[in-house]
Parts: sequence; C-alpha cells; structure tokens
Amino acid sequence: SRTLRLAVIPGDGIGQEVVAEGLKVLTAVLPADTKVETTEYDLGARRYHATGETLPDSVLEELKGADAILLGAVGDPSVPSGVLERGLLLKLRFAFDHHVNLRPGKLFPGVASPLAGSPDIDFVVVREGTEGPYVGNGGTLRTGTPQEVATEVSLNTAFGIERVVRDAFARAQARPRKKLTLVHKNNVLVHAGRLWTRIFEQVAAEYPEVSTDYLHVDAATIFFVTQPERFDVIVTDNLFGDILTDLAAAVTGGIGLAASGNINPSGEFPSMFEPVHGSAPDIAGQGKADPTATVLSVALMLQHLGLTAEAAKIESAVAADLAERVGNPARSTSEIGDALAARVAG
Ligand code: NAD
Ligand code: IPM
Ligand code: MN
Repeated sequence: SRTLRLAVIPGDGIGQEVVAEGLKVLTAVLPADTKVETTEYDLGARRYHATGETLPDSVLEELKGADAILLGAVGDPSVPSGVLERGLLLKLRFAFDHHVNLRPGKLFPGVASPLAGSPDIDFVVVREGTEGPYVGNGGTLRTGTPQEVATEVSLNTAFGIERVVRDAFARAQARPRKKLTLVHKNNVLVHAGRLWTRIFEQVAAEYPEVSTDYLHVDAATIFFVTQPERFDVIVTDNLFGDILTDLAAAVTGGIGLAASGNINPSGEFPSMFEPVHGSAPDIAGQGKADPTATVLSVALMLQHLGLTAEAAKIESAVAADLAERVGNPARSTSEIGDALAARVAG
C-alpha cells in the first residue's frame, strides 16, 4: 500500500471551489491500497491581508516534503496586481525549479470548439517555466517623473533552454506523430531567439525521427486558430507559452477545461498541478466555475506519480461527461465534480 502526501493550495476566488472538486474526484479514483494524506495551506489574499505574508519560508520548507502540490488559483482584486502572482505562484515555480510547464491542448469529442468544423486538436505545449521575462530582472528609474523608465529584461540561459528543449524532444519522440515546433520571435528578439534556435537545432540532431518546425509567435497564433491540427508538441519561452496556452484553451472548449503541470523532472522538489485559468473574480463564489480543468490537472498529477491507470480513468470520465454536455443545461461546480467522481468510482 502507498500513501500520497499531497499539499493543497486552494488559493483565491474560484481556486477554492475547483480544488474541492478536484479532491473529490481524486479520492474517488484511488484504489483501495493507495491513500492520500492532504495538507491544506492557507495562502493567498486572506493570509496576505491577515499577516502580510505571501509564502513564508517555513511553508516553503514544509512543501518540500510533499509528493505533489495541487493549486487552485491565486490573485485577488483586493491585493495589488503581482503581489500574490509573484510572491506565491511564481515563487513556488522558481523555488521548486518547475522548468517544464506542461499544458495539453486537446479538443475532446463532442466539445463545441469556436473553430469551424471540428478540427482534430491534440497537442501539448511545453512552456519553459523558470526563465524568460518572468524572472523579475528589471526595475524602474526616475519614478513619477516624465522621464520614468521601466525595464523587464528576459533571462535566457543555455542550461535552461537546453533542458526544456530536451524534455520537449523526448515527449515528441514518444508520441505517434513525433513532431516538435519551436515557437519564438527570432526575427526581432535576436539575442534570445538565436540561442533558442541554435540549441533547438543541436538537440534535433539527436532525434532524427522527430520532425521539426519553427514559427514566430505571431504566426503561431494564426495557426492555432486556422490550422490547429498541424501541432503535436510545441516548445516555447515562458511568456509566449503563457499567452499561447490561453488561446489553446479557448480553441479546445474553453479555459474551464485547460489543465497544467509545473514539472520538476528530476524529482528533487515536488511538481505542482493547477488549472491554466486564474481566480476568476467575475464568477467567484457563485458555483459557476467549471472544475474540469482542475480535475484534468489531477489526472496529470497521477500520471506524473506513476498512477497511469487512475489518470486514464479520469480522462475517460471527463471525455464521457463532456460528450453529454452539448444541449443540456449548465451545471454548477459541485454538480460537475459529483458527476465526475461518480464516473471514476463506477
Ligand atoms: P482568469 O483565468 O481568472 O479569468 C478569465 C476569464 O475566464 C474570466 O471571465 C473567468 O470567469 C473565466 N474563467 C476562468 N476560469 C474559469 C472556469 N474554471 N470556469 C469558467 N470560467 C472560467 O484570468 P484573469 O481574469 O486574467 O485573472 C484573474 C486573476 O487570476 C488575476 O489576479 C490573475 O493574476 C490571476 N491568475 C492566476 C493564475 C494562477 O493562479 N495560475 C492564472 C491566471 C490568472
Ligand atoms: C498562468 C498564469 C500565471 C503565469 C500568472 C498568474 C503568474 O497566467 O499560470 O498561466 O503567467 O504563468
Ligand atoms: Mn496564464
């Protein structure tokens, strides 16, 4: 028998609502010989207002002992933008070296896509998670004067690029289509762009079976909408990957379905699983949030922990649930969670 030590950070807004459903489905899917021991962490806007803390070092230390982390969402209109996003979410991604930010884009059968026809969309974005413009490498000068300056300098290391590019090639090699697309903007961001392109080409030489492609990020947004079936695995920088994966969510049935994993492949620190969406203040507290993205993130987590059959069970349950949605009345967050839990248990 096995016990999974799961750290849970529901966070803000709908994060609280969707994580409850994710845990419901997790409990229902686990086999009798596998227990889950959850520790819930009160982090986010409430904690920040009460204590001024976003992520205390003591909590960070404790989280190191978890097998995985499940996170809902962070960010709240009552807290200045960036405080929780950087001080909690990005702090976790950086501290635990989550350099593979894995974001599948899959159009499940029967799901209404805003795209014409029903394109065959099944790709995965490997978004670099620890570098790029996200590192906080910048500052301001002459604040409040007409000469004010702000910089936000993208950091790109050969080490950081190579490890995520290698991960993406390995994933492409393991998939039937064996295709990898590098997305960047090497026609303008020439310094980082050349480094990404050169490393991509070097690693490509070790993967003769993987066919490769390159797109500038602006053109990639065209093809996400007009020809999404052309993508298999995509590897890209942190910020491009952020933007592309909201677009990917939109073309595969909506942000309420998009799952992600922040992976530390070495296992040195726990990986973290979360929906791609945020705290959605516009619908928080109303039971309107779709918990499916979180449930699919739980599946990614089980896959990562080697519980492959259970992950597949969740995917099938979601597929069956989604196929029945068209033409039926909308359900609440907990109704969807209950339905998915019943399916995986049955
Ligand atoms: P958002 O993803 O929270 O919301 C965008 C739109 O999508 C909203 O209309 C929202 O109602 C809808 N939506 C999101 N999730 C949904 C779900 N599960 N079901 C149905 N509809 C859903 O993005 P935003 O409005 O740009 O950001 C809100 C806050 O969340 C900000 O503070 C932002 O920084 C934060 N944020 C956090 C994360 C994260 O924790 N990983 C991700 C994105 C944004
Ligand atoms: C996401 C979010 C985060 C990001 C923010 C909240 C830091 O948009 O997970 O996609 O930009 O990575
Ligand atoms: Mn985002």
